[in-house]
Amino acid sequence: MTITLKVNDLAVSAEVAPRTHLADFLREDLLLTGTHIGCEHGVCGACTVLLDGEPVRSCITLAATCAGRDVKSIEGLERDPVMAALREAFSAEHALQCGYCTPGMLVTARDIVLRLPDADEDRIRLELAGNLCRCTGYNGIVRAIRRVLSHRPEVTAPSLPPVTRGTFRQFSLDDAAAPPAAQISAKFTGDGLHETLSIALPPEQVWVALRDPALIASCLPGATITSRDGDRIRGEMLTSLGPIQARFKGDATLTYDDMARTGRIAGSGRDTASGTRMQAEATFRLVGNGPAASTVEIDLTYALKGPLAQLGRGPIVRVFAAELAAMVARNLEARLRGEETPGAGAALHAGGLISHVAWRWLRDLLSRFHVR
Ligand code: FES
Ligand code: FES
Repeated sequence: MTITLKVNDLAVSAEVAPRTHLADFLREDLLLTGTHIGCEHGVCGACTVLLDGEPVRSCITLAATCAGRDVKSIEGLERDPVMAALREAFSAEHALQCGYCTPGMLVTARDIVLRLPDADEDRIRLELAGNLCRCTGYNGIVRAIRRVLSHRPEVTAPSLPPVTRGTFRQFSLDDAAAPPAAQISAKFTGDGLHETLSIALPPEQVWVALRDPALIASCLPGATITSRDGDRIRGEMLTSLGPIQARFKGDATLTYDDMARTGRIAGSGRDTASGTRMQAEATFRLVGNGPAASTVEIDLTYALKGPLAQLGRGPIVRVFAAELAAMVARNLEARLRGEETPGAGAALHAGGLISHVAWRWLRDLLSRFHVR
């Protein structure tokens, strides 16, 4: 679904899955990684952000329920005078060590300072009960908040919105009806991607290649087909990311529609060393663009489960998957022209590709955000 909301005073329009929680939306889609995720159960408070001026746990708040509302993450409080005083006090009173709890702790501390100007130590500790810190023992945090409260007259927050209790409401599709003018428009499809590949060869030739899974596999470094039985294929893929090596073995079903020049491949695989499982489904469509040019449209959805799934989250991995698809297209074009395909047969060295991808991601990110 498409939602529009305000994040750190910017209007944002984005597509989200109904089950995406606000913390993931902020971190993964908007790249606001100042919001930390600890327990993901609403217990530790590391993910605390402001929703319409009130602290909420973003890990148990659905992004869809925030349509039309005002979200402020720690990044959006950079110029806030209360937050500035708290940052200084946290530093002076040694109120952080590893810093993991700190963004959520600061958001809660700001709420205490603004809402309870007369709070004593007991009250501060009570108010902090929903924010866990495993490093500091809380003494420095409590001292820092008391320090800011004692200078309260100098601390003003003129732009603070009124705090209203109990404003949570059921999300309805009407929430997306009246979007504010969007300044950021993001189109995310969760763990999936739509890719269009251009190949400078006639569509007849490209279709013959697409009908040959062994040929496609030979264009993807690290991939091999081990057996084929009708529309069932078995294969494996060797990937290395620095010292981490993963060998995914699995099978897939391939179906083609020659008339429409479309196809579908669905399969799953497992890396036995790490116990990571992968499931993926791709549909593709070949379109001819004249006698010597073709376009292949691919829709890919995938799910990773297990230890290596940590590497399967986030925008960098989405760009990585797109780079991989482009690499297959380049190699396929070279193979069909009878040229060399560098690296084919060796393991896929994801590290080099990822650093290239990281630069591309950074460039795209900078061009996507327009801050007024
Ligand atoms: S991550 Fe949200 S409360 Fe722990
Ligand atoms: S500073 Fe490490 S958890 Fe709080």
